[in-house]
Amino acid sequence: MRYLGFFIYLVFMNSCVEPVENTLIIGHRGAMGYETENTIASVEKALELGVDMIEIDVFRIASGEIVVFHDDRVERLTNGTGSIFEYEYSDLEKLELKGGHRIPLLEEVLSTMDAHIPLNIELKGPNTALGVFSITASFIENQGWQPDQFIISSFNWDELRAYRKLDPAARIAVLTEGDPLQALDVARELNAEAINPYAGLVNKSAVDSIHEKGYKVYVWTVNDPGQFRALRKMGVDGVFSDYPDRMN
Ligand code: G3P
Ligand code: MG
Repeated sequence: MRYLGFFIYLVFMNSCVEPVENTLIIGHRGAMGYETENTIASVEKALELGVDMIEIDVFRIASGEIVVFHDDRVERLTNGTGSIFEYEYSDLEKLELKGGHRIPLLEEVLSTMDAHIPLNIELKGPNTALGVFSITASFIENQGWQPDQFIISSFNWDELRAYRKLDPAARIAVLTEGDPLQALDVARELNAEAINPYAGLVNKSAVDSIHEKGYKVYVWTVNDPGQFRALRKMGVDGVFSDYPDRMN
């Protein structure tokens, strides 16, 4: 009886503790704060930093390959010119990225990661769903990857619809630049795992509403430790960061 008050106090204090653990740290375009984005070096750097997951962007080029690249034109990042869609791989592989890197194929990223951690593949261009599905299926079949180690995301919701038709069990995340709550309908339609909003539009009430509907919240792009701690306090499930090692 003497300890009952203390016991009640302990239970009360425990219920006040913030749910701060388990916020996934996702390396953005690998670890693009340290290495040229979406390169093998950037993926290796993210692995070295111990991220929970890596995110990359992909396009399908004219000769059919799925390549890892962010922009729809090559000028910002390479010594070439033109639209990435129009490239044949024999020409694309000759392009040099900042730092002397090459644009990798999706298969090269998967081989580098060797199924150590999950991969978020963001479908940037049109007509990417089938190629990504075929490549991931092959790595699941032959290279030790598990189906749940892939999350497919896109701002192009039609591309996500195409992916869902190919794979009824895929983990899908709905990317949005707008009000996160406006993505709820499509999240339901796609049976998505998550809504991935822009960090500047996230608040506690939006996080709570999305959680109530049963979806996770993975926020992009978070590079400031103070902003990370605020988002973690709101209960977000993960953040994409160029500097994953600063997220603590
Ligand atoms: O998937 C999160 C983030 O990568 C979305 O924006 O432009 O960096 O691909 P972006
Ligand atoms: Mg991206």
